[in-house]
Amino acid sequence: MVKHKAAITGITGWLPDFVLDNHKIAKMVDTTDEWIVARTGIKQRYIANDKETTASLGVMAAKEALDTANISPNDIDLIIVATSTPEHNFPSTASLIQDELGASKAGAFDMAAACTGFVYALSVAAQIIQSGAMHTVLVIGSETLSKIVNWEDRSTCVLFGDGAGAFVLQGSDVPGGIITSVLRSDGSGGDLLKVPAGGSAIPASYDSLRDNLHTITMNGREVFRFATRVMADACREVVSEAGMTMDDIDFIVPHQANVRIIEAAARNLNLPLDMFIMNMERYGNTSAASIPLALCEAVTDNRIKPYNNLIFVAFGGGLTWGATLVTWGVEKNSSPNHIWLKLRRQTLYRVARIRSAIRRGTRTIEGAIWGGEEIDSN
Ligand code: ACO
Repeated sequence: MVKHKAAITGITGWLPDFVLDNHKIAKMVDTTDEWIVARTGIKQRYIANDKETTASLGVMAAKEALDTANISPNDIDLIIVATSTPEHNFPSTASLIQDELGASKAGAFDMAAACTGFVYALSVAAQIIQSGAMHTVLVIGSETLSKIVNWEDRSTCVLFGDGAGAFVLQGSDVPGGIITSVLRSDGSGGDLLKVPAGGSAIPASYDSLRDNLHTITMNGREVFRFATRVMADACREVVSEAGMTMDDIDFIVPHQANVRIIEAAARNLNLPLDMFIMNMERYGNTSAASIPLALCEAVTDNRIKPYNNLIFVAFGGGLTWGATLVTWGVEKNSSPNHIWLKLRRQTLYRVARIRSAIRRGTRTIEGAIWGGEEIDSN
């Protein structure tokens, strides 16, 4: 089978409009801006409104990523959505996004690895492309953590924010792109960070709602200790797996949970802090969206340049952690047809909506006509 490189050809981030800063949170729970900044580095976060969901933020990020890659939704072979806040247990958020984009030739599934989800999804997408099985994979990290946070629990509600980021990965013969990944898990620590109810272990019930078991619970100190250890380990492992040394690395794009965790990782790796891309000050912890959101900013402000070697490194619930080594190569498409192709994509999105509505309508009519008939088991 032909081997391909998995190149990143489109990236973007998307945020809700509403900003919740620490001063506003201090009016909701017993905390202060000083405490939150000193313990986490976070000053504000973006919060989705009632109409914004994980799928709607993911769709906006996906559309912009298709613009940067300058491809049609019909070119997508697979959509992977990394999220801890899916729209439903099923259907997958990825399928809902597939429908909204009109990506009619794409498969779609969600990736559940909490804040490590984007790194897991990138690794899976790259390996599918490298095997030659598929050519174009859309990887989205999208979260509306504000909807599963207990807004009366000061130890968790100050940490999280909402947002989405998306990458287009495509097969390419040009060297670079995703080089290698390490993925790890230790389920013995699953209790340290979880949403206890709503799954098969504790189905949603009046009692689970009353006890707030549908919201995030966390042992912050233990998660902190775990994170400071695994961030550095994962960086070392992925560099060694790639046959490189830390001297070959230009930037590290870490999961944006807490500035102190990143400072500890930098000390552990003996690297200067300015090698670490950070933006949690403005976004908070956006879980699976945090790495693409941080990367987009650093690419937009020209810190990251083509052919820089980058490590994406994350940790999260599961417990899970992992790292991906990437040689950066994405450049904005400046083809003269760019505007024309963008208009074509917008038309395809409208057609997708109409097609989806027609399919729903047809199913309703067919159900009304044939719904009463027995299904022939032969
Ligand atoms: N404001 C004021 N005081 C607070 C707040 C707050 N928002 N939250 C907790 N405190 C208090 C605690 O009650 C405690 O008081 P006590 O000593 O009287 O009991 C005190 O502050 C210290 O609490 P600690 O938990 O020891 O504070 P710590 O320095 O560990 O910081 C934090 C807490 C920020 C949560 C830290 O532990 C942390 O960042 N942990 C990692 C969390 C994380 O990254 N989670 C995301 C994982 S990714 C994913 O998969 C979703």
